Amino acid sequence: MKTFKVAVIPGDGIGPEVIEEGVKVMKKIAQLDGRMQFEFTYFPWGCEYYVEHGKMMADDGIEQLKSFDAIYLGAVGYPGVPDHISLWGLLLRIRKEFDQYVNIRPITLLNGAPCPIIGGSKETIDMLFIRENSEGEYAGAGDWLFKGKPEEVVLQTGVFSRKGTERIIRYAYEIAAESGKTLTSISKANALNYSMVFWDEVFEEVGNEYPNVSTYSYLVDAAAMYMIKDPARFEVVVTSNLFGDILTDIGAALAGGMGLAAGANINPERVYPSMFEPIHGSAPDIAGKGIANPLAALWSASQMFDFFGYEDIGEQLLVAIEKVLEEKTVLTPDLGGNSSTTEIGDRVVELVSALIESAR
Ligand code: NAD
Ligand code: IPM
Ligand code: MN
Repeated sequence: MKTFKVAVIPGDGIGPEVIEEGVKVMKKIAQLDGRMQFEFTYFPWGCEYYVEHGKMMADDGIEQLKSFDAIYLGAVGYPGVPDHISLWGLLLRIRKEFDQYVNIRPITLLNGAPCPIIGGSKETIDMLFIRENSEGEYAGAGDWLFKGKPEEVVLQTGVFSRKGTERIIRYAYEIAAESGKTLTSISKANALNYSMVFWDEVFEEVGNEYPNVSTYSYLVDAAAMYMIKDPARFEVVVTSNLFGDILTDIGAALAGGMGLAAGANINPERVYPSMFEPIHGSAPDIAGKGIANPLAALWSASQMFDFFGYEDIGEQLLVAIEKVLEEKTVLTPDLGGNSSTTEIGDRVVELVSALIESAR
């Protein structure tokens, strides 16, 4: 039996509520499946920790996390602590320090999930976003000059290194090549006359190594429009850090809402732990009510099973999530139901258990 050490950072707001369901489901699966077991270690880092200690994580926090096989994170950020302090102190810091340069965000409209556009189905809304996750617009570089003076100037520098750009684009080509899907690059070279001209060049150069992959290239504004008007044209998509952030929230809306949007921050070389997290935030408007949708966090757990090499389990967990949506008997309010976070988790446990039993 294999043991996986998972660092759990529930974080803020609804983070702990949804992560609790994820841990519950993972424990049950491990117990039934018998091939793996998990050792969960909790870290109480986040905004409450900041209020108490003046920092978002322990001083040696990164060192503490290094030995884990994966990190499972809820959400970071809460009113009372400035967002740039909380996010750069924990979530963005982990992504960067652990060189989790690939952010994999599946945008698939599962059967039973609500879709705001006419004709939306699993066939037409089925994309895999590969978001650059280590640099670009999120390099954290800039300056604030002449603060408070009339000549005040603020610079936020985007950094697109050859290494950083090539590796994310190559990663996306590999996925497209393996899956036989098309690859779309989303950029903005008409206005961003350095970064995105470079991005487009690298996309083309790396493409020469993959003559069998059909490619498309869109400007980000048009891509946002086509995602609503004709989402079927997107299969595997590669884009920069900021564009990927924004477009995957559009994707979330297409695929049933923030409560169904999952993500994985991957360090492909496996030198450092990868991190699995729903892409939604701490949702202060519903936090503490026990009504947050845990399905995004559960889908991220499914990505974790894939990452650990149990794709069969990852798939069964996703099937269980889809069954909950199809049954419509227990759903959280964001999906039109009146069930609690815990009730959804319990139903997924029942469904995935039945799937695992019947696959024996
Ligand atoms: P948000 O994702 O927290 O909420 C946006 C809307 O979606 C809200 O109406 C919320 O109720 C709803 N929602 C989100 N997740 C839901 C779920 N699981 N079930 C039901 N409804 C859900 O985004 P925001 O309000 O812009 O941000 C709130 C805080 O979270 C901010 O501090 C922000 O910086 C932070 N944030 C953190 C992460 C992260 O840690 N990965 C991601 C996004 C935002
Ligand atoms: C996300 C979030 C983060 C991001 C924020 C909270 C820094 O919006 O994971 O999508 O922009 O990457
Ligand atoms: Mn986001």
